[in-house]
Amino acid sequence: MEIVILPNREAIGALAADAFCALLDRKPDAVLGLATGSSPLPVYDELAARCERGEVSFSQARGFTLDEYVGLPADHPETYRNVINAELVSRVDFAPGAVQGPNGLADDIPASCAAYEAAIADAGGVDLQILGIGTDGHIGFNEPGSSLASRTRIKTLTEQTRIDNARFFDGDVDAVPTHCLTQGLATIMSARHIVLVAAGSGKAEAVHHLAEGGVSALWPGTILQHHPHVTVLVDEAAASRLQLASYYRQTYASKPAWQGL
Ligand code: F6R
Repeated sequence: MEIVILPNREAIGALAADAFCALLDRKPDAVLGLATGSSPLPVYDELAARCERGEVSFSQARGFTLDEYVGLPADHPETYRNVINAELVSRVDFAPGAVQGPNGLADDIPASCAAYEAAIADAGGVDLQILGIGTDGHIGFNEPGSSLASRTRIKTLTEQTRIDNARFFDGDVDAVPTHCLTQGLATIMSARHIVLVAAGSGKAEAVHHLAEGGVSALWPGTILQHHPHVTVLVDEAAASRLQLASYYRQTYASKPAWQGL
């Protein structure tokens, strides 16, 4: 796991965008794993700006989102389908229908989740997955206690996650759905490269466990310690609990430029 400590969210956005652009340059029909929430927004802003300038194209790429609330009406602005459309898809040049997500309104949820897994596999698997991390250590919506071998399924959101996400629902915790569909931890682990972005002191404990804690269902992101190619981009506040911060800084400072992420 490579840990890069950066001065601010913009620097995180630029470096993560570099990884997307390098991938799309060598593989224009790459499969992208897309997260919602606040953390990837600087990445998507940077990608939108670069696409606008003609520096990158998504026209042959496909995308799969990580998760979706269960039961929100299709026209609700906070469905993750609508959020990813607003934050990225509508701002770049994806072909129509190129980005899919789990269906939070499916009648048969297990069948719909299995079909989503099959769609990712049929596309050849995810080349580059962008992730945020919850204050409780979740990735996707794999809350503490999730099976480390899980696949796309329904999960119950923790009270902490619903409190954290109330900011997207006018501060009303009761308006945050209680359930979601999420790619499982094994689904996420199948991506070939994972870039996790985190900023702010609220993420410091989760980032410490992610990189330096024991692998445990209590901190689901720790499963990434078993992945061969994970890049963690954090700001100073999110890095503040890292025990090996000086080593990570020294390692990144001495990394040859040609190596990329
Ligand atoms: C969103 C997702 C979640 C978020 C996490 C952090 O698709 O999968 O794991 O990445 O809840 O959310 P933010 O970035 O809003 O702090």
